[in-house]
Amino acid sequence: MRTRADEGFAASLIAWHRQHGRRDMPWQGTRNPYEVWLSEIMLQQTQVATVIPYYQKFLARFPDLADLARAPVEQVMALWSGLGYYARARNLHRAACVVMNEHAGEFPRDPAVIGKLPGIGPSTANAIAVFCFGARAAILDGNVKRVLCRRFGVSGFPGEKEVDRELWRLAESLLPDASVDHYIQAQMDLGATVCTRSKPLCTSCPQSKLCVARLTDRVGELPQAKPRKPLPSRETRVLVMMEAGRVLLLARPPTGIWGGLMSLPELPEDSEPGDFAESVLGCELHSVMELPPIRHVFTHFRLTLHPLLGEVRLRPRAAETAGQHWLAHHELADAALPSPIRKLLAAAFSKSFAAANPLARPKTRAATEKKGTR
Ligand code: ADE
Repeated sequence: MRTRADEGFAASLIAWHRQHGRRDMPWQGTRNPYEVWLSEIMLQQTQVATVIPYYQKFLARFPDLADLARAPVEQVMALWSGLGYYARARNLHRAACVVMNEHAGEFPRDPAVIGKLPGIGPSTANAIAVFCFGARAAILDGNVKRVLCRRFGVSGFPGEKEVDRELWRLAESLLPDASVDHYIQAQMDLGATVCTRSKPLCTSCPQSKLCVARLTDRVGELPQAKPRKPLPSRETRVLVMMEAGRVLLLARPPTGIWGGLMSLPELPEDSEPGDFAESVLGCELHSVMELPPIRHVFTHFRLTLHPLLGEVRLRPRAAETAGQHWLAHHELADAALPSPIRKLLAAAFSKSFAAANPLARPKTRAATEKKGTR
């Protein structure tokens, strides 16, 4: 049952937002569903400051949904490179194709239909419908869950079905009759800037006097964490094969870890680097040395990469075998690479270059090209 205090919740957040909400984010002030959708997808699991340059570059390259649908998915992946959670980019491209083919290029307005597009869950579908089409619908992303769990003292892990259902009911019951868009943005901003996961700024919160978590000294406990099993770990050796200043990269399969990006060849467990390079990649490898390992944590496991740097003596000069790309140092900036591989390659290039030229530094594009020529 809604109490008087609950009824003031939306009004208090809207008033707070008028004074303290975030302004000037590039997706504010547009009702274009393509632009709002792109921002909402990029903002999933990613902070505003990280998203802004990606968002601007993406829209400069694909100004509208039809441009995105027409583009090869590899170009979309390359623009997403470094932002992480790459399924978001693949789904974005797929959804653009669905809108072109099944909705005659018109972005759907009904949250239930929006939520059927690849990569769009119910909360994101509602946010798009609120911001673009004036719908009266609740959202429940991570930030909002945290605000509601604390303010209303909801216990249990929010990923559990029952808790999730309770939070949706609560979120819907709190919706104001008007200014829903300001209210939704206020919830997002409060969660991102005040009711943060760690070190929340409770003294700046418009709801602090009514916050159940604060009144019962449970701010640090709510929302309750997922009961955790330790993450499994996986180790693998990767080959950094250099020839004449170029490194061999392989296209990853379209789905799975780093799907659709380029990565280094992985060495099967019992293989020798030289045998593998020759029999599988058609290259003769020598002077192999170990580089320091690179660790990366995915949602479901920890990965340790053990890089082996080697010079290639011979490689086939004929057309590159499908999926093989030999890239020079200056080509890495625009390549679709996962961040850990990009980091590893930066280290490998400087090592390889230093070994060949003990007194010089590797050339970057900035150093080899005049500013303003591209
Ligand atoms: N996180 C998710 N959606 C957002 C938005 N519209 N503004 C700021 N942060 C967000």
